This record gives sequence, C-alpha cells and structure tokens, in this order.
Amino acid sequence: MNFKGKTILVTGGTSGIGKATVSLFTQAGATVGVNHIGQHEAFIELERELSEAPGKLIELEANVTDAGQVRVALDTLLSATNRLDVLVNNAGVSLIKPFLEITEDEWDHIVDTDLKSVFLCCQAAIPELLKTRGTIVNIASELAISGRAKFAPYTAAKGGIISLTRSLAREFAPTIRVNAVAPGPTSTPMLAAEAAVPGHNESTADIPLGRYADPVEIATSIVFLASEHAGYFCGDILSPNGGAVMR
Ligand SMILES: NC(=O)c1ccc[n+]([C@@H]2O[C@H](COP(=O)([O-])OP(=O)(O)OC[C@H]3O[C@@H](n4cnc5c(N)ncnc54)[C@H](O)[C@@H]3O)[C@@H](O)[C@H]2O)c1
Repeated sequence: MNFKGKTILVTGGTSGIGKATVSLFTQAGATVGVNHIGQHEAFIELERELSEAPGKLIELEANVTDAGQVRVALDTLLSATNRLDVLVNNAGVSLIKPFLEITEDEWDHIVDTDLKSVFLCCQAAIPELLKTRGTIVNIASELAISGRAKFAPYTAAKGGIISLTRSLAREFAPTIRVNAVAPGPTSTPMLAAEAAVPGHNESTADIPLGRYADPVEIATSIVFLASEHAGYFCGDILSPNGGAVMR
C-alpha cells in the first residue's frame, strides 16, 4: 500500500500495536506523527529502526486525555505537513480488578484514556480530515463484544469506542470514513503486564488459532482500513482475533 505524501497521526505509537502500525505506514511512505506519553527513548529507538524507510516520523509527546495537549500535538504535526489524512486512535491502558474494588479514580483513568481520548482526538482532527477526505481508525477490543470478568471499565470504554465509531461514521460520511479494529489478545507490553497480574489466567486455550496475535497482524488491519482499498468500509469493526469471538 502506498501512503506517499500522506500524513498519519497514531496515538500510543511507540509500543505494541501502535508501534507496528507506525512501522507499516512509514514503510509505505507516510509522514507519521507518533504520539506517546513518557516514552521518548522508545521513540528514538523506533526512529533508528525506521531510518531506511521512505517515510518519516515526527515525535508528538502528549497525554491524550488532555484537550490542550492533543491540540498542541496536532498543531505540531500540521506545522510540519500542513495536512492530516489518517487518525489512528490506538493509545490505551487496561486494568484487571474485581468490579466491587474499583475506585472512582481508577474508573476515570481507564475510561478517560481509552474512550475520552478518542472523543478529544476526533474532535481536534476532524476539521483537518474534512479537508483531505481522510479517514479514522479506532482501536477497540474483542472484549467489548464478549465482555470479561474483572475488566469492567476497559470493556465499557471499548464498547463505547464501537458505538462512537458508528455514530461518527454516520455523521461524517461520505467525506470521512470511520472504522474500528477490535483485536484479540496480541503479544504486546500490555498483554505481558496483564499476564503478570497475580491470579490472572491469560491463555490461548479458547483461541481456535491457538496463539496470540503478533502486533503486525493487527497493524495490517489498521493500515488496510486507512487505505483506498477499504473505500467501501464505513462504520465497520474488523476483528482479527484468531477466532476467539465469531459474530
Ligand atoms: N494487546 C492486546 O492484547 C490488545 C487487545 C485488544 C485491544 N488492544 C488495544 O490496542 C491498543 C494498543 O495496545 P497495546 O497492547 O499495543 O498496548 P501498549 O501498552 O503496548 O501500548 C500502549 C501505548 O499507549 C500509550 N499511552 C497510554 N496512555 C496514554 C496517554 N494518556 N496518552 C498518550 N499515550 C498513551 C503508551 O505510551 C503506549 O505507547 C490499546 O487501545 C489496547 O486497548 C490491545
């Protein structure tokens, strides 16, 4: 796929699925705004890894739960490229905790990072995407469909992303296509941190393909939805999940 001359913004782009997505877009020739929070070293390493790629990276450190920081990050990217073609809302955090023990601050942290951030980034980016007839790809989760014990705020936020995706798809079609990817368990630092939680049972037993996804297998769905090849996808939820959730 060719993204030469295109500008992409990937939130949470220095780790896991976001990093693989940045890598594919950069190899396809795009200028990629790489958002992260507190991962400057990881950005420098990624820039080094991609130094031979035809595209280019622009570092955008910002907390995506803060409207002012989102604005500054987008303005930094626009001052370099003067356009925005694709927004990938990927930044996210998870929490494994019994529902009755979740504090209000924990609920707000998860829902703000996973869902409010999508509202803030979309509201900032859509005026630019209207100019370029651009596209948005939001990252939900298969858990939004299946639900999971001890994941209440995370699954609620991811379900919200699916609903928000469909509402924005209807509101901004045909100018902007809005779609989502709902991955199954993927080998990233987030999954490793979850697996390390005492008492948490993370296993491939219920996955028909019998393994976790590699981040690049999720990134290919994201890049596909952002590409002209997905020109008839609108409000859709692509679900690379190894068969764990079939619908
Ligand atoms: N790994 C999985 O199994 C899996 C499955 C389904 C969905 N997802 C979703 O995919 C996305 C990426 O997950 P991952 O596994 O690659 O996670 P990860 O922990 O490897 O990366 C998350 C990224 O988000 C960034 N981030 C977190 N909070 C932020 C904030 N407030 N502002 C800006 N950036 C912030 C981090 O800096 C990091 O770059 C998330 O939305 C996650 O919920 C992951």
